[in-house]
Amino acid sequence: MSAFVTGGSRGIGLALVQAMLKGKTFSRVVAAARTDSEALQAQRLVGSCSVWLLACSFNVAQVARQALHLLRQTWQALKFQHGDRLVTVKMDLTDEVSIQEAVKSTEDFCQGSLQLLVHNAGLMHPSGRGENSVTRLDMESFSKVLATNVIGPALLTKALYPRLRAAAQEEPSKVVAVGAGVASISTNQAGGWYSYRASKTALNAFMKNLSIEGGRHKVSAFTLYPQMVETALSKPYVKGNPYPELRSPEETADQMLELITSFGISDTGRFVNIWSREDIPW
Ligand SMILES: NC(=O)c1ccc[n+]([C@@H]2O[C@H](COP(=O)([O-])OP(=O)(O)OC[C@H]3O[C@@H](n4cnc5c(N)ncnc54)[C@H](OP(=O)(O)O)[C@@H]3O)[C@@H](O)[C@H]2O)c1
Repeated sequence: MSAFVTGGSRGIGLALVQAMLKGKTFSRVVAAARTDSEALQAQRLVGSCSVWLLACSFNVAQVARQALHLLRQTWQALKFQHGDRLVTVKMDLTDEVSIQEAVKSTEDFCQGSLQLLVHNAGLMHPSGRGENSVTRLDMESFSKVLATNVIGPALLTKALYPRLRAAAQEEPSKVVAVGAGVASISTNQAGGWYSYRASKTALNAFMKNLSIEGGRHKVSAFTLYPQMVETALSKPYVKGNPYPELRSPEETADQMLELITSFGISDTGRFVNIWSREDIPW
């Protein structure tokens, strides 16, 4: 089976790619993102080692352990461990040509069919913080959030749909979006995060629509909400986490993968909290 994961360079996406490679269900995994994961981890490595050197009063063993942990998380290291089961591709979801090129470059690897597409890549806001007032909205940032979180994923689905349909001739294929609780209009009490909320609500609308068309082709589509996960995206908001736990990307990916594999065509169109497994009101 083959899978295509967007935002596979870090956070939840990288953990999903790792979890897929650890298991046996997926023999071919495509990880896509804008940034080369080696460059990214090199930056994190330098930053994190300096912090550790200071914090550990120059405890070299601890610094080395941390460095090893980060190095194991690069695409290069995963390719070394899992050989030709992983292909990495640069793709910018805000650029239609980049989407088309990424899809084309993975044609041979996917052998014309795709069992799973995970729309994981996401952006809170170019500044890192969602707008807490309507007076903070601007065209450029709002457009970028919409392009990254909903328009790009929709166009990527379009480009990969023939492969999803081809795979569905054997057994139903799946499109999964990593959604946000704040996409729920009816439970919105706090306000704020204008562009992120709007983009994730639009993503839900897209996924629901896709589930209806996909029903005719044995392609299911559902959205999974992971609550708050410790990543770069959530970093500014960790103090206000409304849940008792702050989940790691790794445990989130394991839980998500369990749902992805157990969900069938009857779950299409759902918007689900991965921990309670309950549907979230629209
Ligand atoms: N963390 C949470 O608490 C939380 C909660 C609910 C939902 N989510 C959702 O979970 C998903 C993953 O988020 P995360 O927390 O893992 O965030 P993250 O660590 O910031 O990772 C975001 C990923 O998206 C990719 N990305 C961003 N802009 C892109 C673009 N224009 N084109 C292609 N890829 C792009 C990034 O790669 P590059 O920068 O290399 O392109 C990166 O791999 C998002 O959809 C987010 O909304 C997260």
